Amino acid sequence: MFRRISPFPLLLFTSLVALLASPLPRQQVRAETAGTILSRPAGYKPEKKLVRLWDSKCATCHGEDGRAHTEQGEAMGIDDMTKAAYWKDVTVERARKSVLEGLKRTVKGKEQEMKPFGDRLTPQQVDALNLYAVSFFKK
Ligand code: HEC
Repeated sequence: MFRRISPFPLLLFTSLVALLASPLPRQQVRAETAGTILSRPAGYKPEKKLVRLWDSKCATCHGEDGRAHTEQGEAMGIDDMTKAAYWKDVTVERARKSVLEGLKRTVKGKEQEMKPFGDRLTPQQVDALNLYAVSFFKK
């Protein structure tokens, strides 16, 4: 005797999986559009390679410690990355865009310029460098 397998358990299973899986991508999309504030992850420890990349590409202006006590940092009046105020409204996306595409503005009569790094660094490298930068601010 042949008994037809009921499609219901399978249907129930797939709809349950769909239901459980669906909120995740939607939440990610929301976070992406709202913008995630860049912040230091718990227990953060940068790789040596990343520190070397910062020191060679970013420290000329921001300094090895992020305080911008450098010739260019002082000439342009670059702010101190170890201060909470520096990161107040900086989202992951904004920081990525600023570094990839560069930045040019005048603040308190001083011309500030960060050249675009998009031709030399990948977005992943930039994100990693920005995490390192925000780690100079220690709560
Ligand atoms: C030629 C000088 C210069 C270099 C080199 C430089 N920056 Fe900047 N950077 C600036 C200036 C100027 C600003 C804007 C003023 C400020 O931060 O006070 C800035 C701002 C930033 C910001 C804040 C952006 C925002 O939207 O608020 C981040 C993050 C940053 N830099 C990361 C980096 C990283 C990572 C590197 C190395 C890949 C780097 N910078 C190299 C000059 C530089």
